[in-house]
Amino acid sequence: MTLTVRAAAKVNLALGVGGPRPDGFHDLDTVYQAIGLYDDVTVADAAAWGVEVRPVGEVDCSGVPLDDDNLAVRAGRLLAEHHGVRRAAHLVVDKGIPVAGGLAGGSADAAAALVALDRLWELHTTDEDLLALAARLGSDVPFALLGGTVRGTGRGEVVEVLPATASCWWVVVPSGEGLSTPAVYRELDRLRPDAGPPAPPTALVAALAAGDVTRVGELLANDLQPAALSLRPELAAEADRLRDVHAGPVLLSGSGPTLLAYAASHADATATRLGLAEAGVSALVAPGPVAGVHVVEPVR
Ligand code: C5P
Repeated sequence: MTLTVRAAAKVNLALGVGGPRPDGFHDLDTVYQAIGLYDDVTVADAAAWGVEVRPVGEVDCSGVPLDDDNLAVRAGRLLAEHHGVRRAAHLVVDKGIPVAGGLAGGSADAAAALVALDRLWELHTTDEDLLALAARLGSDVPFALLGGTVRGTGRGEVVEVLPATASCWWVVVPSGEGLSTPAVYRELDRLRPDAGPPAPPTALVAALAAGDVTRVGELLANDLQPAALSLRPELAAEADRLRDVHAGPVLLSGSGPTLLAYAASHADATATRLGLAEAGVSALVAPGPVAGVHVVEPVR
């Protein structure tokens, strides 16, 4: 029997970051959005845990761990442990989310694995328990379960669904080698040693609720951007090249190095993608917001 569950990439419309906490994490006040790039996780019973990763399109999967460090395998093990069941599964990840780019692909896989194995094994985990297990796996795994547009506080794991009505399009520009998230946070602490609490995204939340796509674009912000640019100075030139072909807002995705262009329409996003293609840069176009984790192929 196999079961396939899909999870989406995330971007941060706002990413407010506070100073370092005693536990090494940072307080966040962020607005997550799920966008239409997907990983599919297919699970099947097996004698031992295992994972296989297959690229969708041009995604480079070479950086994805294939051992117990894989976040989807960790999710499966945690779920089994939570229910006290002695079972294992083989996972196949069809990866359409660029790796180590600040798009939370690993978190998407973990969320998809939790839901897939919960269904396969008929464990009937409550939503509350799923969110708690997700939070143990990573700060943005609870969001990956939910999808849509969500405010995240705490270290990002405290989630509040926003009644967002503004929908938009994203041009996603993967940028060379991945950046280490802990390294970007460390660089931010170095650049900003006296940081206060993260700024609440009050105006952005209001613009989303009003469906004001233009205002949402004006309010996009990412506190991690200066740190990622400091670690990867060539990103500034890449952002300029994107601005050359895109009249709207441009920002860094999460801890980077993926760059994002924000567009009000599919036509605008496609024009930007084609402009980049003329300059020899490949990019993906995705709508936002989209649904969180969902079953795409039932047990068969
Ligand atoms: O929670 P997650 O495992 O995704 O976090 C990866 C790393 O990113 C953490 O080990 C930490 O270095 C950094 N991080 C942070 N503050 C957060 C979220 C992540 O410092 N709120």
